[in-house]
Amino acid sequence: MRFAVISTSLNPKSRSRVLAKEAALLLEKRSGEVDLIDLATFPLPLCDGGKCYGDPHVSELKSQLARADGILMSCPIYNYDISAAGKNLIELTGRDVWTDKVAGFLCAAGGKGSYMSLMGVMGSLMLDFHTTILPRFVYTTGADFEDGALESAEVKQRLNLVVDELARYTEKLRG
Ligand SMILES: Cc1cc2nc3c(=O)[nH]c(=O)nc-3n(C[C@H](O)[C@H](O)[C@H](O)COP(=O)(O)O)c2cc1C
Repeated sequence: MRFAVISTSLNPKSRSRVLAKEAALLLEKRSGEVDLIDLATFPLPLCDGGKCYGDPHVSELKSQLARADGILMSCPIYNYDISAAGKNLIELTGRDVWTDKVAGFLCAAGGKGSYMSLMGVMGSLMLDFHTTILPRFVYTTGADFEDGALESAEVKQRLNLVVDELARYTEKLRG
């Protein structure tokens, strides 16, 4: 099985990037084949529904994601949703990437109250592309990190569980 982990925060001090990196390490230990994609260093156009689909970076991103059996998206929570960069990635990649795949989510929020913010993106992938959505995700706040590192033992355990479940669901669907 091949996995892609996408870090969608453009903030250099991003906490969701820390989650993405840790998840990629865990998946590597488990499966050995993981592409870690960081949108902060991957120049992408904004989706205009036309010309953007001919952009060479979009083609490169699509082929990297298309070869993954399972995808883990790590997202900052902005305005009770994923960020515009994450939404843009989905608009640019579409059904060739997301159909018949398993997708899981990790997120970094400012506070506890936004814990349902991933429901919109999960529902849209499910309805639009029939993506199999992993029914567990990792939700973190600033209190789970110290000096830029993930400190919460509870979140570490949850991250392990989500990675294990991603691998298990992906093997069932694509194996
Ligand atoms: C524009 C903007 C909107 C935000 N909206 C929310 C929000 O709705 N709920 C929340 O809990 N945190 C919100 N936050 C806080 C971020 O989720 C938090 O800073 C998180 O660490 C961002 O992820 P990152 O560190 O990976 O960039 C917002 C931050 C910004 C900059």
